[in-house]
Amino acid sequence: MKIAVYPGSFDPVTVGHMNILTRAASLFDRVIVGVLSNVHKDLLFSETERLNMINCSISEFNNVQAEVFSGLTVDFCKKVGAKFIVRGTRQHTDVTYELQMAHVNKKLCEEIDTVFFPSNDANFCVSSSLIKELANFGADISELVPNKIVKRCIMEKFRRLKTGR
Ligand code: PNS
Repeated sequence: MKIAVYPGSFDPVTVGHMNILTRAASLFDRVIVGVLSNVHKDLLFSETERLNMINCSISEFNNVQAEVFSGLTVDFCKKVGAKFIVRGTRQHTDVTYELQMAHVNKKLCEEIDTVFFPSNDANFCVSSSLIKELANFGADISELVPNKIVKRCIMEKFRRLKTGR
């Protein structure tokens, strides 16, 4: 069985992530979305919020599940029996960073390969940061997020940040 891990911060999940996930789910028998826990990174959403947003976006897949992990991605892969890491790439800056990570991961674990999916045209500029920037200024993010539930979580987060309630 070919199992892949799709690791990331998913702060929050985007339509770009969903496009990569859809393509990975058709290539691998099982894909586990690895949601990096809040260690080190300055993230807006808690790990539970990020996991929930993914869970409510993957119900249509029968071979995809999501889990929070901490530590090295390769250790998470070993834990779940995955031999592949899935990553999406957009601009060339992504490619440089992603190649570095792929090399590090290969050094850490020879048996695990990274598989890159170039973004499709529509999602070339979509990122979690862009969504947060737009949502913060009240712009419509409907086209950039997987569904209405995710949109509501994001808008609600910014509302609470602004009102303190
Ligand atoms: O969505 P992101 O923030 O670009 O994802 C980055 C992620 C989670 C894939 C990367 O930071 C990661 O793998 N972190 C776990 C620690 C690790 O394995 N580091 C070694 C590879 S550089």
